[in-house]
This record gives sequence, C-alpha cells and structure tokens, in this order.
Amino acid sequence: MHDDNNIILLLVGSPRGKRSTSNAIAEYLESKIKETGCKTRRLMLSPLLLSENGKTDIINSLKEAGSIVLAAPLYADGLPSGVLELMELVTERADKKDLAGRSLTVVINSGFPEAKHSELALAMAGEFAKEAGLSWHGGLIFGGGEAIKGTPLREAGGRARFLREALDLVASSLAKGEAAPKEAAALMARPFVPSWLYIFMGNLGWRVGAYKNRAYGKLKDRPYE
Ligand SMILES: Cc1cc2nc3c(=O)[nH]c(=O)nc-3n(C[C@H](O)[C@H](O)[C@H](O)COP(=O)(O)O)c2cc1C
Repeated sequence: MHDDNNIILLLVGSPRGKRSTSNAIAEYLESKIKETGCKTRRLMLSPLLLSENGKTDIINSLKEAGSIVLAAPLYADGLPSGVLELMELVTERADKKDLAGRSLTVVINSGFPEAKHSELALAMAGEFAKEAGLSWHGGLIFGGGEAIKGTPLREAGGRARFLREALDLVASSLAKGEAAPKEAAALMARPFVPSWLYIFMGNLGWRVGAYKNRAYGKLKDRPYE
C-alpha cells in the first residue's frame, strides 16, 4: 500500500450511478473495507466527468489514494464511454510518477449470464494500468448483473452469494495492500443459476415490463421497417 496515505478509492463507472449494479458492488466492498478500519472514498464517475471541477476532483482523488478500485458494467464487449474518458483523462493529466505505488483492482459486471464476456474489457483495463503506471491488483468478472439491478448486495439473497463471498476476500486483501486472490475471481465468475434459467427469467422480466406498460400486444412490432 502507498506509504503516505491508505485511502481506498472506489470509482463507479456505470452511467446508472447510484442505481447501478456496479455501485451495489462498490458499496458492499466499501462497507467490508471500512470494517477493517481502512479509509475509503466512493465516487460516481459520470456526473464528475461533466465538468472541469469534477475532472480535477477525480485526478486529485486518484493522487490521494493508496489503492483504486473500478467497478463498471460491460458495454458492447468493452468499457462504457465514461470509463474510457477516465482512462484518457488519467493518461493525459497524471504523470506516471504521480500514481506510482498505487494499485488498481477492476470489477466488471455483464448482462449476459456467462462472466467470460467481460474478459476482453478486463484486458483493456489491464493495458490501461500499465500505461498509467498503476500496479495491477486483479480483475474480477461477474455475469448476470441484471439479476442484481442495483439491489444492495446484502438484500440480494442467494443470487449475490458468490459475489458477496468474493468481495469479502477482495476487501481483506485490499486492507492488507495485497492483490485480490485467484479464489475471489473464481468465486465471482461462478454462475449463481444455470444460463437457461437466467435467460428464462430475463425474458419473463421483459414480458412483465411490456404488460405493465400496456405494450404486450406490440412485442413483435417493427416500427422502423
Ligand atoms: C449500451 C449497453 C451495452 C451493453 N453491452 C453488453 C454486452 O456487450 N454484453 C453483456 O453481457 N451485457 C451488456 N450490457 C448489459 C450490462 O452490462 C448489464 O445490464 C449490467 O448489469 C449493467 O451494470 P450497471 O448497473 O453497473 O450499469 C449492455 C448494456 C448497455 C446499456
């Protein structure tokens, strides 16, 4: 861990902000880190990236932190534009020596049930860490993020069981300034239900949504044809 400061900075990279699964992950992780006595700070990237003051706040927070955690969703097999903007901001505005000694841990959640869809996005984050001079403290991927849909993980029952167990391990590693153990990544990537059941429930969710919005009879409409 960085000598001068032991703040663990949690960055939420979802445009959904506080209502996101990324934030539910960051919030739970933050609460577990706090139990160890470490100081934390959690920031929503999207609103901060809209202003110069916000961008300065991000850069200053990165410089103050000892460890950085980024929680983000998978967008089009990659990272959301706000996260890409963060990466550009850091490589343009922060000198490698400013960030030397800081670690980066990344947690990506996807809509598809198989965690492996996020492997490419994780590799992108790993390249960023190299470019920015951050030491890579592990990447973790979670499939089926829509089953959480921003629900606080303590209230999310069995569907978040492996996710919570993995984050418990990540929290204690972060508190010790160590990289996330492989066991945590394996736990997080473990499917909490079979894929067919997730897809069945997902389809049911869309149908219920359509019914509530009086659009059930329009599901096969093709208005732009
Ligand atoms: C624009 C967009 C692109 C997406 N692309 C993917 C994708 O390529 N693969 C996938 O599994 N999920 C994809 N998703 C689904 C999100 O990753 C998923 O809903 C995730 O749980 C959202 O997390 P959040 O609440 O932290 O934003 C996409 C969602 C949006 C809005």
